[in-house]
Amino acid sequence: DHAFWLRPPAEREHAFRLLRELDKPAFFADPEVPYMSVKGLGYHALVRHADILEASRNPEVFASGQGGATSIIDMPAEFAEYFGSMINMDDPRHARLRRIVSRAFTPKMIKQFEDDVEVAAASIVDDLLATGSGCDFVTEVAARLPLKIICDMMGIQESDYGFVFDRSNIILGASDPEYVADAESIGAALLTAGMELQELVQRLAADRVENPTNDLTSSLVNANIDGERLTAQELGSFFILLVVAGNETTRNAISYGMRLLTLNPDQKRSWLEDVDGRAPGAVEEIVRLASPVNYMRRKVTRDHEMNGNLYREGEKVVLYYWSANRDENVFDDSLRFDIARNPNPHVGFGGPGPHFCLGAHLARREITVMFRELLRRVPQIEAGEPERLFSSFINGTKHMECTF
Ligand code: HEM
Repeated sequence: DHAFWLRPPAEREHAFRLLRELDKPAFFADPEVPYMSVKGLGYHALVRHADILEASRNPEVFASGQGGATSIIDMPAEFAEYFGSMINMDDPRHARLRRIVSRAFTPKMIKQFEDDVEVAAASIVDDLLATGSGCDFVTEVAARLPLKIICDMMGIQESDYGFVFDRSNIILGASDPEYVADAESIGAALLTAGMELQELVQRLAADRVENPTNDLTSSLVNANIDGERLTAQELGSFFILLVVAGNETTRNAISYGMRLLTLNPDQKRSWLEDVDGRAPGAVEEIVRLASPVNYMRRKVTRDHEMNGNLYREGEKVVLYYWSANRDENVFDDSLRFDIARNPNPHVGFGGPGPHFCLGAHLARREITVMFRELLRRVPQIEAGEPERLFSSFINGTKHMECTF
């Protein structure tokens, strides 16, 4: 809540530590798994914008590959089978893998399927209007556009969208009882979801070897890195990364944006006055405050001093994007939703470095088009109370009624 963000960074840091320890209790329950114990959890929390920029710019010191970037807990070996993707690697391997798909995510390529995004958004708003009064905004509106677009890019059929949606929810929301009811089975649920998505990609991949298309699965199947093909494990983890990153985060930005517009009618009025012209500023401001990815983790490769603090080799560092995006030293009146904020150097898509969000242009396009459709065709729409995802990693909304 707002009062929390007005507290001094040291207090926030402490609160984050407590939050993290309360989160995913099952991870800490098994005494036979030392890397999951609370004792081994210690880490530096970077909560200031300047620290996050510097850590992101220094991937040789703050590495993603040593234990993984996507969890505060070092990734267990059996998880690497499904989640050992480039986001948890360092250059040069990371760069080689990223190159296989990076061309598909450039602004020029994203522009090429602008029409598809528009058609999909229009059909979602048709369905919304057909309800006559409202629905669950998250599942019926916000989630559908990014899910459809990333599935189309990968070559996943419409009949599998629901399957992908459910597995993504488990992979990023395992700590929430709605997705994994029994806390003791979080680890097993994650592995099962990974395995099920692996089966889907192996089926698709087998087909693409025979019948290549221009989808991303074909790019992965045919990728050649220094004369070598991706192994089945690499292919599967890559596919899971793209599918999960491509649908969860943008959904949460759209839902949070809807809530921000409801809570700030002056900003909504202002956007309505010039829907296209004010979209770029509004979208950046939504991503800043939504910060759908709460943090990424790094490991220190050698002793390093940064802004007066010493980081020792082997220590863990967590980059809290949500906090940096509210840093009073960078953002005037930082809690205020201001669609005209300029400049807006938020780190919602990560800091400046090799792992900067691959899908940033795509996400911006999806958010822009979704709100354009909503503001033009259902300007009176309002969001109710959000039901938040119980997770320290993803700032997510699971359900939120909307009315019009
Ligand atoms: C990486 C945020 C949408 C694919 C990241 C990172 C963040 C992030 C914070 C890590 C950056 C770092 O470690 O420096 C977001 C947000 C999104 C979004 C807030 C929506 C509002 C997407 C979409 C895709 C995507 C639509 C499509 C596939 C990826 C991939 C990476 C990544 C593949 C890993 C890049 C690498 O390791 O080189 N994203 N993302 N993201 N994102 Fe996104």
